[in-house]
Amino acid sequence: PHSFYLSRHGQSEYNRYLKIGGDSGLTELGEQYALDLGKFAEEKICVDQETGQPRAARLWTSSLVRTVQTARHIPHPTVAHPETGTREWIQMDHRIYRSLDELYAGVCDGMTYEEIEQLYPEDFKRRQEDKFNYRYPRGESYLDILSRLDPLVMEMESYREPLLIVGHQAVLRLLYGYFIGKKREDCPRLSIPLNTVIKLTPRTYDCEEERISLSH
Ligand code: G3H
Repeated sequence: PHSFYLSRHGQSEYNRYLKIGGDSGLTELGEQYALDLGKFAEEKICVDQETGQPRAARLWTSSLVRTVQTARHIPHPTVAHPETGTREWIQMDHRIYRSLDELYAGVCDGMTYEEIEQLYPEDFKRRQEDKFNYRYPRGESYLDILSRLDPLVMEMESYREPLLIVGHQAVLRLLYGYFIGKKREDCPRLSIPLNTVIKLTPRTYDCEEERISLSH
């Protein structure tokens, strides 16, 4: 398979106020990242770096406003169909998957970590102790999102075109961890920074990794 490109959404209003979850839009900083990511996709993903020719690529986002907004400057170029030559055209294919949505924090959705610690101290402690298995009241655990990601991973592995996923921290920790061969219990503490594209290129037994920072 081709390379996978993983990116978190640009900074959202909730990120700015340190709240988790919700469905807020991007801040000005987030919008700047959306522009940078659009340019990166146009130059590095939608163009074959060896031949300089445009190529078909795929784009996935979650169903939440912040990933869709982050992807909105990504061009959807038309390129010649690889098998039939110049007459038929295909488009960069944008799919929206609810199964890529961020870990749902249930009753804690929209709170800051400070508020959670004050209101639900026991839960806060239990989550620190076992972040992978801890399930928010009426919400999800990392283990829960792993099962909704399973079918997507199978699809990713079948693709022959490069794929860019604009997603969320918890979901990308699991996808990234899967492809680089981390134990699943260790995934909740992996670092997936904002303003960064992680490029993974599958090799026989593992993945080559490159991190491209798009911050100014
Ligand atoms: O709640 C959503 C966060 O992106 C997940 O981060 O597992 O470190 O709390 P956390």
